[in-house]
Amino acid sequence: MKGLILAGGAGSRLYPLTLVASKQLQPVYDKPMIYHPLTTLIEGGVREICLISTPHDLPRFKQLLGDGSRMGISIEYREQAKPEGIAQAFLIAESFIGNDAVALILGDNIFYGNNGFGEAFAEFTSGATIFGYHVHDPERYGVVEFDADGKAISIEEKPKEPKSNYAVPGLYIYDNDVVEITKNTKPSARGELEITAVNVEYLRRGTLRVEKLSRGFAWLDAGTSTSLHEASAYVQTIESRTGIKIGCPEEAAFRNGFLSSSQLATIAADMPHCEYRAYLENVIQESHRIENSKSR
Ligand code: G1P
Repeated sequence: MKGLILAGGAGSRLYPLTLVASKQLQPVYDKPMIYHPLTTLIEGGVREICLISTPHDLPRFKQLLGDGSRMGISIEYREQAKPEGIAQAFLIAESFIGNDAVALILGDNIFYGNNGFGEAFAEFTSGATIFGYHVHDPERYGVVEFDADGKAISIEEKPKEPKSNYAVPGLYIYDNDVVEITKNTKPSARGELEITAVNVEYLRRGTLRVEKLSRGFAWLDAGTSTSLHEASAYVQTIESRTGIKIGCPEEAAFRNGFLSSSQLATIAADMPHCEYRAYLENVIQESHRIENSKSR
């Protein structure tokens, strides 16, 4: 499966923070925001990733992430010249996707918690898999309505009168039909190729699965100064309590077998002495301790 990260947009709600660095490069406590969606894809077993951003911001993402080899993955880059909708990502990255299935994640979506997406990635074969998450303000999102048996029956983009409290988070898994479906999608009234229109088409074909995310799972939004601050506070609270980092792509790559412990050690050794490096060194030491205790 291929992975797309869409990190476009003007970030106008975060102005003046976004005058110099785009929204997805802003810090969420101790890491750039983009590390979170990157980690989610890696945890899902996705190794080939294409990052899509504006011509203005793309050089900075390249500077940050390079070809991905420092994270045990490969990253290609494509430009979204104008913000013409989330689904446009499938057209921009058509040659990258080739004949594969594809997971799309939005660059400002932060997910944390167990039993989140693992099964959805592992068991995906065809059609589309999206998610539903209970929120207090569904009118800000794509909203999915379920019937009494828990089957999805409608999806609406930012409805004034939402039919449920279940918002659709910005992680979508599709089979290769998504490219052709997007090509046949008409831009909405706001001139965008809406991801919701793609999901509605899969629903019409009877091949859409909507999985409800459990209440123990966190989906954070970081699009305003307040929500960005709250996301930072959340990450800081969990990290300082557990000593485990949220959104650490190198660690996720190591745990998924994309990097060996000696590769991770080399990557860490190239970093300046800092808390992030010390954390990765500790991840390696801890895994050696576990291995040693198994072989005893
Ligand atoms: C977009 C989608 C919406 C989805 C949301 C998730 O909204 O259009 O369906 O629920 O992302 O973050 P936007 O962020 O463009 O307002």
